[in-house]
Amino acid sequence: MIKTKNLNLLNNKNIQEAYNNKAIEVLNLRKIYRNKKTIEEVKAVDGISFSVKQGEIFGLLGPNGAGKTTIINILCGLISPTEGDAYVEGHHIKKDLKKIKELIGVCPQQAAIYQYLNAKENIELFGKLHLVKKEDINKRMNMFLNLLGLSESSKRKAKHYSGGMIRQLNLIMALINDPPILFLDEPTIGMDPRVRRTTWNFINSLKQKDITVILTTHYIEEAESLCDRVAIIDFGKLIAIGTPKELVEKYHSEDLEEVFLNITGRRILEGF
Ligand SMILES: Nc1ncnc2c1ncn2[C@@H]1O[C@H](COP(=O)(O)OP(=O)(O)O)[C@@H](O)[C@H]1O
Ligand SMILES: [Mg+2]
Repeated sequence: MIKTKNLNLLNNKNIQEAYNNKAIEVLNLRKIYRNKKTIEEVKAVDGISFSVKQGEIFGLLGPNGAGKTTIINILCGLISPTEGDAYVEGHHIKKDLKKIKELIGVCPQQAAIYQYLNAKENIELFGKLHLVKKEDINKRMNMFLNLLGLSESSKRKAKHYSGGMIRQLNLIMALINDPPILFLDEPTIGMDPRVRRTTWNFINSLKQKDITVILTTHYIEEAESLCDRVAIIDFGKLIAIGTPKELVEKYHSEDLEEVFLNITGRRILEGF
C-alpha cells in the first residue's frame, strides 16, 4: 500500500518535472494570411504542436516558405497567431508577452543593427536598452567578440561588415542580456564555411550555459551539427520530429538530407 502511494507520488513528481522542463510549448498553432481583395488564403502555419526542452538546441528545418519564420515571430510576440496557444517558460504568448520579452534573445531573419555604429557601439546600445549593467555588458561583449573572432574588427562601422559578420554581431546583441531562451532565424546565412563553423562552435557552447536555442535553417549540415532535435516543417505543417538519428532510422535513410528530400515538398502528413 505504502509502496503504491510512493509510486503515485513519484509519478506525479515526474509528470510535474516533465512539464516544468518545457522551455517552449506550442499547441495547435495556426497563422492564416487572408488577402481581402482576392480572398486568397495563405496557411503560413497550419496547426502545429511541439515542445522544446530546457537547454535543448531545437531546429525548425524546412524549405523556403515552410512557415519557420512565422513560428519564430509568433513565439517572440512579433505577430499574433490566428489560432492556437504557445507558452515560453510557461508564459502565454498573448497574456504574458512582457515577461516573455525579458526572457528571450532574438536574431531575426533580417539583421537588425545600426549601420553607422561600430560593433561595440551596437552591442552597448542594445545592452543599455535591456538595462544590463555596464560591467556585465563589457564582460560579455569582450568574451563573445573574442569567441566569434570579431574583436579586431569591432571598432569598424557595421556598414563595412560582410553579411556573415553582421549576423555574428546580431547573435552577440541577442545574448547581451543573458537570456535563457534564444531564437535564431537562419543564423549562418551569408557566412563562409570557416565563419559558419566558428559560429556553430559558439552556438554549441551555449549548452554549457543551459540556454535553450530554437533555430531555423535549411542547411541540413547545420541541423545535424547543432540540433539535439529537429522538427521538419513543410507547407505550414509539422511532418516529422525527433533527433537526427531517430529520423534517419524512422525513414530508412542514409542521412538527414535524404530524410528531408524524401518527405518535404509533397503536401502529405506522414507517420504520426
Ligand atoms: N505578411 C504576410 N502576408 C502574406 N503571406 C505571408 C506573410 N508572411 C509570410 N507569408 C507567407 O507565409 C508562408 C510562410 O512564410 P515564412 O514563415 O516566412 O517561411 P520560411 O521562414 O519557412 O521561409 C510563405 O508562403 C509566405 O509567403
Ligand atoms: Mg524564414
